[in-house]
Amino acid sequence: MSFSLHTHTCGELRRENIGEEVTLTGWVWHRRDHGGLIFVDLRDRDGMTQVSFDPEYSGGTAFHTAETIRSEWPIKIHGFVRERPEGMANLKRVTGEIEVLASEIEVLNTSKTPPFQIEDHDDTSEDVRLRYRYLDLRRPAMMANMKMRSDFTFAIRQALHDRAFMEVETPALFKSTPEGARDFLVPSRTQPGHFYALPQSPQLLKQLLMVGGVERYYQVAKCFRDEDLRADRQPEFTQVDIEMSFVDQDDVMGALEAVLHDAFAQVGVDMPLPLRRIGYWDAMDTYGTDKPDTRYGMELHDVTPIFSESKFKLFASAANTEGMFVKALNAKGAGAWPRAQIDKLANVAATFGARGLAWIAFREDGSINSPIVKFFSDEEMAALREEIDVQPGDLVMFAVESRLKADEILGGMRMHMAQALDLPREGHDFLWVVGFPLVHWDEDRKAYAAEHQPFTQPVEEDIERLESDPLSVGSYTYDFVMDGYEAGGGGMRIHNAELQMRILKLLGFTEERAEEQFGFLMEALKFGAPPMGGFALGLDRVCMLLAGADSIREVMAFPKTSSGSDLMSAAPSEVSSAQLKDVSLRLL
Ligand code: AMO
Repeated sequence: MSFSLHTHTCGELRRENIGEEVTLTGWVWHRRDHGGLIFVDLRDRDGMTQVSFDPEYSGGTAFHTAETIRSEWPIKIHGFVRERPEGMANLKRVTGEIEVLASEIEVLNTSKTPPFQIEDHDDTSEDVRLRYRYLDLRRPAMMANMKMRSDFTFAIRQALHDRAFMEVETPALFKSTPEGARDFLVPSRTQPGHFYALPQSPQLLKQLLMVGGVERYYQVAKCFRDEDLRADRQPEFTQVDIEMSFVDQDDVMGALEAVLHDAFAQVGVDMPLPLRRIGYWDAMDTYGTDKPDTRYGMELHDVTPIFSESKFKLFASAANTEGMFVKALNAKGAGAWPRAQIDKLANVAATFGARGLAWIAFREDGSINSPIVKFFSDEEMAALREEIDVQPGDLVMFAVESRLKADEILGGMRMHMAQALDLPREGHDFLWVVGFPLVHWDEDRKAYAAEHQPFTQPVEEDIERLESDPLSVGSYTYDFVMDGYEAGGGGMRIHNAELQMRILKLLGFTEERAEEQFGFLMEALKFGAPPMGGFALGLDRVCMLLAGADSIREVMAFPKTSSGSDLMSAAPSEVSSAQLKDVSLRLL
């Protein structure tokens, strides 16, 4: 490509270009006056080139103009490339061996003084960065994140296209269909009192595309969920949404692995295949989470049988109660912590639902500090030591609860301790968690809720227990876990209308409501729907992990704050009464 305003980018010139006449455009990053010489670091999205102005070479006008320019003014310069003088090279920069001695300069615009320095290591608050996001994006680190995201998105599109996946766009104005979060609603002007919903994902539409014969679909799709925000959640985010038909679960997972492998390779990340698969219950029992980071060990242990005759009532009664467990976690290194620091862990455990925290600190000098060991017999202690490989310096923590609750408490503590002990987590960790239960009991709603979503195919052999023992029903589901984050999820779908209705009833829908909300899906399933399954990759989360960032906001051009605001435009904002009238709405 050639451009009339510049011959090269600011990241392009090297030693080989010495002697060439060039024209560059970019922003003034830094300007230094050095006794009769002016140096300007000229920056564009590609990099930085040093430009020097010498009154003897540049002539009076250009030099005078160079004296007036300020940070973040866009300028155009013309000159010739020369080697930097002896000892002045900056080998940390790719353009650091050369500079452009300018003969001409044109000011393309001026700039107000920016509210913060356009530097990577600037401690400006995130609110200010978001208020002036267009300036924040000029920082090289942000630009590198944007570039990496673009490269990865392109690579995954390419990998899908190469395997005959077809990109199909689906509507953003659609029907409100529950998928776990609240919908964003859009009032209809032409049909007063009626609303569209922005899609939480294109789930139903991609299933309908399979009925429509698309066979292999993908879409880089915007999704909208009105839920409480966290560092890895935004109300509007992007999925690489995928669906296939006439396939079984292994076909889908195999295709996904190949696509992900190729896309990661394009951004320099090796994802060894085949990926490990961990069953849902294995993941919960071993790591206390369905999205384990396995770059460090610290696995959970079931020590229930050790305490069936214990004098320690709490453990003994759990060991003798059906469904109750004593589980232990060994945090190596924390056994040397002072008592006060260990005591504070109970507060941390409480945030994961614990009612208390029993612990034993094995001190480096061989002594034991613990409020509970006095109740343990020598045999219990010996069995415990063996089961969890106790060494001096270990801190063993216990959770006494039902299986899932004990897992979740210790899973939370495992992550907390890994952070507190600064355990090394190098490289990336990729795995599948498979075989989630079809439903769980939602205590708040007092109803069964879909573990993944209401359209998931239950395991055939379990279908007869759908009504009698729903919690024991398995499903064809898989989550893609990267570095301890749920980076994607999917499953096989129900392609039989009667079974779909049975599941909706199990989830608490009356037949009328199920028809009203999902009648169009169930009708489509009756027209020869093929077996199908798919997946959605959380593009923002994957890019966050690839960038080594701790929030998805770092890889989104214009993210929202935790209260859902766009600080630049001040959205959401009030609208005029005429606009409200147009859509037949009155505010309360
Ligand atoms: P699910 O709800 O698991 O599945 O979403 C898929 C992936 O999207 C990402 N994700 C988010 N990223 C940022 N902000 C959010 N608020 C957010 N919510 C989800 C996660 C998640 O793994 N239709 C199904 C997929 C399928 O079955 O094919 C779905 O949407 O990385």
